[in-house]
Amino acid sequence: MKRRPLIAGNWKMHLTVAEAKSLANDIAAGDIPSDRDVMLAPPFTALAAVGETLKNTPVLLAAQNNCWEEKGAFTGEISPVMLKDAGCVMAIAGHSERRHIFGETDILINKRVAGALKFGLTSILCIGETLEQREAGNTFIVLEKQMRQGLSGIDGFAEEQLVIAYEPVWAIGTGKTASETQAQEVHRFLRNLLVDLYEKNIADNIRILYGGSVKPDNVDILMTQEDVDGALVGGAALQAESFIRIINFNA
Ligand code: PGA
Repeated sequence: MKRRPLIAGNWKMHLTVAEAKSLANDIAAGDIPSDRDVMLAPPFTALAAVGETLKNTPVLLAAQNNCWEEKGAFTGEISPVMLKDAGCVMAIAGHSERRHIFGETDILINKRVAGALKFGLTSILCIGETLEQREAGNTFIVLEKQMRQGLSGIDGFAEEQLVIAYEPVWAIGTGKTASETQAQEVHRFLRNLLVDLYEKNIADNIRILYGGSVKPDNVDILMTQEDVDGALVGGAALQAESFIRIINFNA
């Protein structure tokens, strides 16, 4: 069974509310094939407004991060219940910028994944090695640790509710993309890890996205790979034309 592709746009810390609404509107008005999922993750301030814009369109709304608690004294955090209230159905956890700029650990990220799933959001767990780790030959060791710790105690979810995003840190925002062979090699490794953590029939249904300088001119070849089930797109998701082209990948 082939997994349903997911093309996800991460807008990071870009766009005012008015700009976000306008871009969401342009993307939703584009050609979106019915055999794939499309998702946008605006900054928190624009979530509710973009949620309104995307109502009655096939485009899904996501948060760039989530807390694990429903409410309480957690200054600077947003609860999964609030995210759902704004229209979100998904949330990203453990993006490399959270790990490397803000010091988020595997233990913290694991709580975010658990919290998203507990309250009914799909969780996109991001993992990825740095250039230094790759050059030292530690790619698989690093990824295995991030996967095992990020998914520790995570069980009993519906398969479509957990998504893994492989984003090599050296490819994010740098214009350098992993080759399709490099991506497939890692994705296959991650799929086998999922088989080890869960059952094969579950692992076979969990989507593994590739992220890191995905653009209109490299998405097609990346998407031909057996275990590449979609893309997490940063820079190229900030313009309707390039993102719509990525959504319309030909594999
Ligand atoms: P990029 O970002 O496409 O700009 O490399 C990807 C990401 O950070 O998710």
